[in-house]
Amino acid sequence: LRLFVPCDAGALAVGADEVAQALHGAALERGVEIEIVRNGSRGLYWLEPLVELATAQGRFAFGPVTTDDVPSLLDAIIADKPHKLSLGLTEEIPWLKRQTRLTFARCGIVDPLSLDDYRAHGGYKGLTRALTLTPDAVIAEVTTSGLRGRGGAGFPTGIKWKTVSQTAADRKYVICNADEGDSGTFADRMLMEGDPFVLIEGMTICGLAVGATKGYIYTRSEYPHAIATMAKAIEIARKAGLLGDKVAGSNYTFDLEVRTGAGAYVCGEETALMESLEGKRGLVRAKPPLPAHHGLFGKPTVVNNLLSFAAIPFILDEGAKAYADFGMGRSRGTMPIQIAGNVKFGGLFETAFGITLGDIVDDVGGGTFTGRPVRAVQVGGPLGAYFPRALFDTPFDYEAFAARDGLIGHGGIVVFDDSVDMSKQARFAMEFCAIESCGKCTPCRIGSTRGAETIDKIRRGERVPENIALVEDLCGTMKLGSLCALGGFTPYPVLSALKHFREDFGPQQPRLQ
Ligand code: NAI
Ligand code: SF4
Repeated sequence: LRLFVPCDAGALAVGADEVAQALHGAALERGVEIEIVRNGSRGLYWLEPLVELATAQGRFAFGPVTTDDVPSLLDAIIADKPHKLSLGLTEEIPWLKRQTRLTFARCGIVDPLSLDDYRAHGGYKGLTRALTLTPDAVIAEVTTSGLRGRGGAGFPTGIKWKTVSQTAADRKYVICNADEGDSGTFADRMLMEGDPFVLIEGMTICGLAVGATKGYIYTRSEYPHAIATMAKAIEIARKAGLLGDKVAGSNYTFDLEVRTGAGAYVCGEETALMESLEGKRGLVRAKPPLPAHHGLFGKPTVVNNLLSFAAIPFILDEGAKAYADFGMGRSRGTMPIQIAGNVKFGGLFETAFGITLGDIVDDVGGGTFTGRPVRAVQVGGPLGAYFPRALFDTPFDYEAFAARDGLIGHGGIVVFDDSVDMSKQARFAMEFCAIESCGKCTPCRIGSTRGAETIDKIRRGERVPENIALVEDLCGTMKLGSLCALGGFTPYPVLSALKHFREDFGPQQPRLQ
């Protein structure tokens, strides 16, 4: 019997290791030989630990499996009988079937640390093709695909690479920003744990395209499993001649290293990240100069989000058009959307741009976990705007969200039911900014603390209209006067809460229970 039990941190948190152990024990008792592959997660987190069985028809899924279920599950599998936790063929589960998985095509399917498995599922075909092209042709392919930065700013990836490639220097760097700090996001972690070679391949393609010989994956200390898997995968790729000198038998040199941050949200900002990589405090640098011109150790540097790099192998393998055929407007391709918070079906849902927010929350997410009405949805992390139901027709697209004073950020969606207190959420945004501020500029460093205090006054019912006007004015200053997105975007959650949920700002009423 060949079984799959995820080693993804989300699955481990709900007992995947114990389930794997119990399966081994139960198989031994029954004298049955089993092989357990520790795969990544399929991203259907409410079904974790999701156990799969390889069959001639494809994989069969069972979940969520507890250790108590293991004996009966194994008996049912051996006897080829139905089981109460049976979900049928994994690929036919509607939540998975309606996705368009380009970036996450292999996640949950392959053994994360098996290069053979990666290759058997199309891995390294992108690099192989890239090696037949000139660096300029590789960059042109990325530009034509329409891929834009998946960290949130949506800057065209091909243009960024071109800037670095055209900047003369003795050394260049590639940095993967995997400092995934947004609330409700987990796509970077899932991919590092479930399909690390796709990131290695994407970064290698970037390195040879822009002329960089060294790459860093900067991630968070809160991701120990992802760090361990990434480090092992790099070692395996190096041993296989896919990193180091003469990458895949070519004349290119490219190597990778994982670096771990110390928990500052601002180190997800690209210049603070580079300061941290250089061994300094994570303080934001003024731009210009752009990292593309003057980045890590003063050298031209590509800084891309993990999801941007992970989209590259598909683009090189299938061609720019195959990627650009998905999406809407200027948002081409797919976005791995992360659905979290008070939601029934939370997880990773990769789909083409254009799906509406309402479809994501009500249809895909199934509404709230508590069963109460959805009141607000925060999109794009702690600095993203809160959208009310009235804006649920907004398509998931960079421009459509910007037109409604929101951002899609890294694709994180956090759902709240009608017991949420939106003035408390607005205060939280200011408090978060005060705690995470790097302290370099005044509107962010001081403004966030004054903002939290003023919202407290509003919540106590003190001079409510005047203090609301003061908060709005302060938000304007923070937006215009902050050096980076931390101070500059904190006004989004605050102003959206004020605009769409004004009734929550005033003397505090007892909340719904
Ligand atoms: P930005 O708009 O300044 O730059 C975007 C990227 O393009 C950067 O990597 C920048 O170096 C590069 N770039 C800009 N012009 C270039 C050129 N001519 N040639 C080459 N490269 C160029 O945005 P920034 O400050 O990096 O990030 C702000 C954005 O981050 C916001 O728009 C927001 O959507 C997003 N954001 C994301 C969050 C997250 O946690 N994922 C949280 C808050 C904001
Ligand atoms: Fe630092 Fe805040 Fe200024 Fe950004 S906005 S540079 S985090 S003080």
